[in-house]
Amino acid sequence: MPELEAHPLLSEQQVNDKIVELACEIASSFPEGEPVTVIGLLRGCFIFMADLVRELHRKGVIIGEVDFLIASSYGGGTSSSGNVKIERDVKHDIAGKHVLLVDDILDTGATLQKVIELFKSRNPATLKSCVLLEKPARLEVDIKSDFVGFTIPNKFVVGCGLDYDQRYRELPYIGIMKEDD
Ligand code: IMP
Ligand code: MG
Repeated sequence: MPELEAHPLLSEQQVNDKIVELACEIASSFPEGEPVTVIGLLRGCFIFMADLVRELHRKGVIIGEVDFLIASSYGGGTSSSGNVKIERDVKHDIAGKHVLLVDDILDTGATLQKVIELFKSRNPATLKSCVLLEKPARLEVDIKSDFVGFTIPNKFVVGCGLDYDQRYRELPYIGIMKEDD
């Protein structure tokens, strides 16, 4: 079982400050006074999204439906299967809605690409996406998230909702898993 590196990649303070910044950007990019439907990709989104919706509220954004989707592309460990399956779809109709998709990390991009394609076909008024982290070195598809917290090196990271084999999601900072020797 790999261990966590002692020094965090991003501290709790850095993450919190970034969420405030992101909320500002997001708030000014949606039409004022109209509710925003926030849809998270479980399970990695759960901490980031919880912080983000509260910060959006502080910036005056009206949150409409909050919904979740489960897509899977990873088995255990740190390797991607590249094969994205929608395991649980959202319960709300997004037609005509202003939608913000929230995910933990843009890695190969396969998940976000699949979900954006699916959601576009449902005719939302607006569709934007936000990720806490992106790892450009791993990106395999032609996709960009509208709002990105941090661009990070090609390391497997945990914390703030991100896991390694279902562990470490609860860390309030972003840590790096040590590489196997
Ligand atoms: P994708 O490769 O962009 O489709 O990302 C799929 C999912 O893999 C992400 O939403 C994360 O849940 C997970 N993932 C990718 N990179 C990491 C990482 O460094 N740590 C933890 N989970 C990751
Ligand atoms: Mg995920």
